[in-house]
Amino acid sequence: MAKSKTQYFCKNCGAQSAQWLGKCPSCGEWNTFEEEVLIREEAPAKGRSMVVTTQKHPKPIDEVSLLELPRIPTGFSEFDNVLGGGIVAGSIILLGGEPGIGKSTLLLQMALQQGQHKVLYVSGEESESQLKMRAARLSTAPAPNCYVLTETNTQQIFKQIEDLKPDIIIIDSIQTMQSGLLDSAAGSISQLKECAAEFQHLAKTSGTPIFLIGHITKDGTLAGPKILEHIVDTVLQFEGDMHYGYRIVRCIKNRFGSTSEMGIFEMVQNGLNEILNPSEILLSQHEEECSGNAIASILEGNRPMMIETQALVSSAVYGVPQRSATGYDIRRMNMLLAVLEKRCRFKLGAKDVFLNIAGGIRVEDPAINLAIVAAILSSATDIAIDAKTCFAGEMGLSGEVRPVTRIAQRIAEADKLGFTRMFVSKYNLKGIKTSDFNIKIIPISKVEEMFRSLFDK
Ligand code: TYD
Ligand code: MG
Repeated sequence: MAKSKTQYFCKNCGAQSAQWLGKCPSCGEWNTFEEEVLIREEAPAKGRSMVVTTQKHPKPIDEVSLLELPRIPTGFSEFDNVLGGGIVAGSIILLGGEPGIGKSTLLLQMALQQGQHKVLYVSGEESESQLKMRAARLSTAPAPNCYVLTETNTQQIFKQIEDLKPDIIIIDSIQTMQSGLLDSAAGSISQLKECAAEFQHLAKTSGTPIFLIGHITKDGTLAGPKILEHIVDTVLQFEGDMHYGYRIVRCIKNRFGSTSEMGIFEMVQNGLNEILNPSEILLSQHEEECSGNAIASILEGNRPMMIETQALVSSAVYGVPQRSATGYDIRRMNMLLAVLEKRCRFKLGAKDVFLNIAGGIRVEDPAINLAIVAAILSSATDIAIDAKTCFAGEMGLSGEVRPVTRIAQRIAEADKLGFTRMFVSKYNLKGIKTSDFNIKIIPISKVEEMFRSLFDK
């Protein structure tokens, strides 16, 4: 007789409990525990001999031989960069993102671009003909080595994998997979845990890299998040604004590379195109100069790029001024406004302030602060900043302009793109020979200095 057992799992963090709890002791969320029935088969599952049987002894690390892990190129140089130089054999990569952002497209396109490597694309979401339709849309050459399978039972999938022996496996998506060893529904925490563990076992024993597509919950985290993130080697996030074509792949965790890399793509009629020099598209071309625009030098991953920030400051029509920001954290914008108000005595308290970052790209680099301040001041004074001026600096709470990382790289990029003037923190210039560049560097320590230089004419 199969023994039936129920357990309660937190929907948010995956914490497990024998009884229902109102508040999750692990993540603090309320009302997230759900009962799941686990019926284990009598005999322990065969395919999962996770227990190590051979005895291992500790070894000095100097004696461990260094194996360079072979990497398979994805066919996208942007994607390779994010992965730290290609797909590592035996690694398991989780790609998360909102529905419709392009996760299936990216991985199918990658599968179609593999020449000699055999790829198995397992879909639990689309039928074979739907996959074919999508593949036909993507303008890639015929790919005789790309196989598709529409199956959700993991044991069945493993059987097919044994026969086909693919070099790369893509699972679309982990939430639709169901292990026959558990009785709970696909997408439940226990199924996610079990399926991820089974795929991990497969990846580690066969040396085949596996991509798992993961759904994202409403608040933007991966569904069944922490458990999956612990199991996999690499966590990638695919993001972008639905109203724009630009998509960014960010690396959140990577056991085989740096997490500071990112790749930029554009979604077009026939799939995703990689964007190799983002500065050129993120600077909108204006015929005439317009107040409220300022160009920031930011670092996304390890790559410097120029991006346009736009601000609109106008008198509030209603009693409470409106503040809105696209591509930027509104709380950070409010903080900048408070600094301008309190430290620099600009009267912005009764103004509506709208902020927009070009391309719908979410920027986290604090070096964008100085450009945002410049854009707000430009709109407030209605004086345009010339299009060949750019900014890189962080703002402190007392109105001081703080240094940012890798300033030399930023200056070089601005110089290369033909900018003539760049405002940076004066504390940033240690060891930088400004005479090496054509661009004129203007060191400042306070926002007022920038204001005087730009608008006090
Ligand atoms: P999809 O890969 O299905 O998203 P996900 O798997 O993340 O849910 O992406 C679907 C979106 O991409 C869809 O809204 C249409 C768009 N798209 C294009 O613009 N061009 C294309 O060539 C393809 C295949 C999709
Ligand atoms: Mg999909």
